[in-house]
Amino acid sequence: MNLPDKVKLVEVGPRDGLQNESRQVPSAIRVELIRRLAASGLKVIEAGSFVSPKWVPQMAASAEVFAALDHQIGVSYPMLVPNIRGLEAALEAGVKEIAVFAAASESFSQKNINCSIGQSIGRYREVIGEALNRGLRVRGYVSCVLGCPYEGDIDPAAVAAVAAGLFELGCYEISLGDTIGTGTPLKTQQVILETAARVPVRSLAAHFHDTYGQALANLLAALQMGVAVIDSSVAGLGGCPYARGATGNVASEDVLYMLDGMGIESGVELPKLVEAGNFISAFLQRPNGSRVARAMLE
Ligand code: HMG
Ligand code: MG
Repeated sequence: MNLPDKVKLVEVGPRDGLQNESRQVPSAIRVELIRRLAASGLKVIEAGSFVSPKWVPQMAASAEVFAALDHQIGVSYPMLVPNIRGLEAALEAGVKEIAVFAAASESFSQKNINCSIGQSIGRYREVIGEALNRGLRVRGYVSCVLGCPYEGDIDPAAVAAVAAGLFELGCYEISLGDTIGTGTPLKTQQVILETAARVPVRSLAAHFHDTYGQALANLLAALQMGVAVIDSSVAGLGGCPYARGATGNVASEDVLYMLDGMGIESGVELPKLVEAGNFISAFLQRPNGSRVARAMLE
């Protein structure tokens, strides 16, 4: 089978996960979670977002969280930014990497960032240009690549167009989000095939949610296409406030178990990752959403 030897794991639990919690997670807990994730060997941990607190109050204290992180250990902490205002906040906080987020569905774009896809790309032209001028790295997301909660099926050509738009503006990596987890493996491969015609496959990341239990199968399908960057969320935290029914991203522990089992290197240690997931699950007072973590507890 044609699989990469090595995969980069991008941990999104502290942002994509916690943004969707009904209870406010104190900054000290967010910081401690990120510290434990870094201790497991993860090198990229999305730590928060500079979005409107009226839209996503859970991420309001992101500057405080970012300031409290250990910046001397070779870990990158990207922060999500929706507009110039968010970029200014990121620059003020001393952030070195931001992530911008567009959608492949018009309705989702309106619900999530209150503008059309075209307007978002126009907005990001300025945000990315300024961020690059200031020496920041910029990652790009495309949401709803395998289905939209409002529009259903999404044309792979629409995904490829938005991904190419962000890549051409200067994003070094484009993360393809199955925001509501409706994708299946062949559909996943179709979207990657179409997108890889416009963005090099080595610059694509798979950001899959596990709502329908398809995420690991879809990830294997993506790995077979040459994708070597996977976004995941410790303990399967999260969802999306603008996608009803979305569960968390695929659990990082489950992804790591699969990669370890296939001999694919990631540099992350499973027991320490499980420990980080148990820490946040205990705080949230619910069972760990990773099946691997639950199996290891027994
Ligand atoms: P808007 O209401 O159109 O914007 O929201 P606005 O410019 O009219 O501003 C409204 C208010 O927010 C104003 O405050 C602004 O100052 C303030 P007021 O004057 O009313 O007091 N504001 C801000 N405050 C802090 N930071 C900012 C900022 N910008 C404006 N950056 C906006 C437009 C984009 C701001 C809003 O829609 C928003 O913040 N959306 C973010 C939604 C979000 O974070 N969604 C979750 C992340 S995306 C996701 O999870 C998917 C992903 O994981 C991939 C996947 O899973 O597939 C990436
Ligand atoms: Mg997500």
